[in-house]
Amino acid sequence: MSAPPETLAGVGDVDASGTTALVTGSTRGIGRATARALGRLGADVLVHGRDPEAGEEVAGAIREDGADAAFVAADFTDRDAVCRLTEATCSWTDGLDLLFNNAGGLFQEKRLVGPGIEMTFYVNHLAPYLLTARLLDHLREGARVVTTASEAHRGATLDLDRTQGEASRAGMSAYGHSKLANVLFAAELARRLDAAGRTATSNSVHPGFIPGSQFWRFLPGPLSGLFRTLGIVPGAASVADGAAELLHVGVSPDTAETSGRYFAGQQPTAPAEPARDRAAAARLWARSAEMLGLDEPLADAGAPSTAPGPR
Ligand SMILES: NC(=O)c1ccc[n+]([C@@H]2O[C@H](COP(=O)([O-])OP(=O)(O)OC[C@H]3O[C@@H](n4cnc5c(N)ncnc54)[C@H](OP(=O)(O)O)[C@@H]3O)[C@@H](O)[C@H]2O)c1
Repeated sequence: MSAPPETLAGVGDVDASGTTALVTGSTRGIGRATARALGRLGADVLVHGRDPEAGEEVAGAIREDGADAAFVAADFTDRDAVCRLTEATCSWTDGLDLLFNNAGGLFQEKRLVGPGIEMTFYVNHLAPYLLTARLLDHLREGARVVTTASEAHRGATLDLDRTQGEASRAGMSAYGHSKLANVLFAAELARRLDAAGRTATSNSVHPGFIPGSQFWRFLPGPLSGLFRTLGIVPGAASVADGAAELLHVGVSPDTAETSGRYFAGQQPTAPAEPARDRAAAARLWARSAEMLGLDEPLADAGAPSTAPGPR
């Protein structure tokens, strides 16, 4: 049996009591393991996903471990549901210390949501962008925003024209593009928080290749079964390993001051070149606000600066 994620991340002795965390996509998989670990470290945790039965089970298990927890259901294809999640978060706590933007998936279905936007881009990027934007004023001093990206961003280039209407995609190509957006978003958020004089940090993280989560469930039957089987192949990461990657960035004292980085293998790592493109990050930030009908978040901090781009 695998060691718990907090041990794998070397944060088992961190006392997180008195802190609050929202972990999106914590009804199962990496998010669930992260939420459970945060509860064991003493943090109060808001559990999120779509499946109420699974969500209540996770929240109940955290409460049994001695921390406070509640579940909020919100489908990230639905803008109003994301807004309700932000309202529920603000009612649940007067300040958030940890925001894990983790919900997401690899969707085979080509579907448009909201104002004709590709579902993968909406769920994996626009919904967490909206959630984060609406929670910015609710982040405490030194809060950490951790966005679950993926090595699948390598090979993608930012192409926002392909996220709407007929040109939009599904499957692996849409997924890789959305994960590139995650890396760019996390870096741009870090830069804007810093420019605004905020002490909150923002980083993105690759959790590993984890066949044992339910991530692969949307692949066609035989492929989904194959990936689950791969869970027992040496070298594939476990769900606990994946959660440890998130905890390293979100909880470890070693990363408390780090912002704007992409992590893999519990190390800051250089993302692919298109994920280090400062102009692309700014373009993504502005277009995302436009697509959501929002005023640009942290707009005053958006002016170009001479600081280095995403590393
Ligand atoms: N597994 C891997 O190998 C791997 C590799 C790299 C990156 N990642 C990333 O890791 C993150 C977590 O994935 P996982 O492997 O833990 O997958 P998972 O077991 O399928 O869990 C995904 C979580 O996201 C939630 N979610 C999915 N679609 C949603 C929607 N439309 N609205 C709201 N919540 C939604 C799910 O909630 P419900 O089930 O309740 O709907 C679930 O809690 C994702 O961002 C994924 O891209 C995974």
